[in-house]
Amino acid sequence: MTIVFRLKGFEQEGFEIQYAAGVLRRGGLVAFPTETVYGLGALVWDERAVARIFQVKGRPSDNPLIVHVSSVEMVEKVASRIPEDAYKLMEKAWPGPLTILLPRSERVPRTVTAGLDTVAVRMPSHPVALSLIRETGEPVAAPSANLSGRPSPTAGYHVIRDLMGRVEVILDAGATLRGVESTVVNILADPPVLLRPGAMPVEDVERILGRRILIPGFAKGLEHAEKPLAPGMKYRHYAPSAKLILVEAPLYTLECLKELAGYIRRQASLNSDGGLCVVATDETLQYYSGSGLKTLSLGSRRDLFEIARNLFPTLREIDEEDCGIAYVEGFPEQGLGLTIMNRLRKAASEKHYLNC
Ligand code: TXA
Ligand code: MG
Repeated sequence: MTIVFRLKGFEQEGFEIQYAAGVLRRGGLVAFPTETVYGLGALVWDERAVARIFQVKGRPSDNPLIVHVSSVEMVEKVASRIPEDAYKLMEKAWPGPLTILLPRSERVPRTVTAGLDTVAVRMPSHPVALSLIRETGEPVAAPSANLSGRPSPTAGYHVIRDLMGRVEVILDAGATLRGVESTVVNILADPPVLLRPGAMPVEDVERILGRRILIPGFAKGLEHAEKPLAPGMKYRHYAPSAKLILVEAPLYTLECLKELAGYIRRQASLNSDGGLCVVATDETLQYYSGSGLKTLSLGSRRDLFEIARNLFPTLREIDEEDCGIAYVEGFPEQGLGLTIMNRLRKAASEKHYLNC
C-alpha cells in the first residue's frame, strides 16, 4: 500500500516528513521531490531496501545510484576521501543539481554503487528533499522515481502513475523546478570527465574548478559507454512509447529551422499512418500550420531553462496524445542545450541529420 502526501505550504509538512523519514529508517521506500526530478529513496546503509529500489524500477543492477546528503558530514560517511576539487564544488554548487564522484567508503553497500569503488553524491536544494534527509539523519540512496526506461518524473502525478502500490510513501510537491536530472562529473579523473550533462551547465562547473572538463561522446548521447566508466549511459532512456525521430541541423538559425520544418513536413507526408506529431518550439510552430501534424511546443528557444523543464512532461504527453510517430527538432549544444540533446538522443529511436 502506498500513502501519498500532498505537500503545499512548507509549514504544514512537519508530520508528513517525519513519517516519511521513519519509513526510510525502518527500511521502506519513499519517493520525494528534488529540484531536478523526483527520486525514489532508501536508507543508504540498508542493502535490502536498496535492492528493492532496483526491483521496483526494473533497473539493471549494474547501474549505480546517487547518494543524497544534507550536510558535508554525511559526505564524510559515504566517501573514504574528499579531494580539494570536491570541496570547491560542494561549496559553490551545493545544494544544487551537481553530482560528484568520490571514492566509496567501505560502509556503503556494493548494491548502491553497482560494485564500483566510487560513490556518486549530491545535496539537493529542494526544501522537502533537504528536510527529509535531515530528519532521516542518514544519507539517502535514490535514483529517479520512474520505471526504468520511462521519462524521468517531474511532477507528483508522474510518480503516482509509475510507482503507485509499489512503494510505501510518495511525497507529492507538484512540479519540479529544473525538470532534468543533475549533472554528473568524475573529478577523480584527470582531466575531470562529464558523465552526464544535467541541470547545471558543464561550463559553470568548469568555471568553479578553473579547468576544462572532458566531454566524451556518450555524454552528448552520441555513443554508448561501457561499464565501468558510466554505467547508466549504456541504456536507452527516457523513451516514450511513440517512435521518436530527432532531426538535427549543424546550426539552428531561423533559416535552418525553416528548412528543418520543411524536412519534417515532407517526411510526415510520406507517412500515411495516423498519429503524426511534431515537438516544436515557439519560434517554429508557424512552419507546421496546415501540415496536419499535431504540434506540441517545448517553449521558446531563447529560454533553454524552460525547454529543459518542459522536456520530460512533453515526452510523456506524446503518449497521451496518441502520437504513433513524433518528430522533434534539435538544439545547439551549449549550456543546457547539451543536456537537452543528450536526453533527446537517448530518447530517440531514429536520428536524422540535415544540411543547411
Ligand atoms: O537529479 C538527479 O540526479 C536525480 C535526483 C533524484 O537526484 N537522480 C537521478 O538518478 O537522476 P539516476 O539513478 O536516474 O541517475 C544516476 C546516474 C546514472 O546515470 C548512474 O549511472 C550515474 O548517475 N552514477 C551513479 N553512481 C555512479 C558511479 N559511481 N560512477 C559512475 N556513474 C554513476
Ligand atoms: Mg534515471
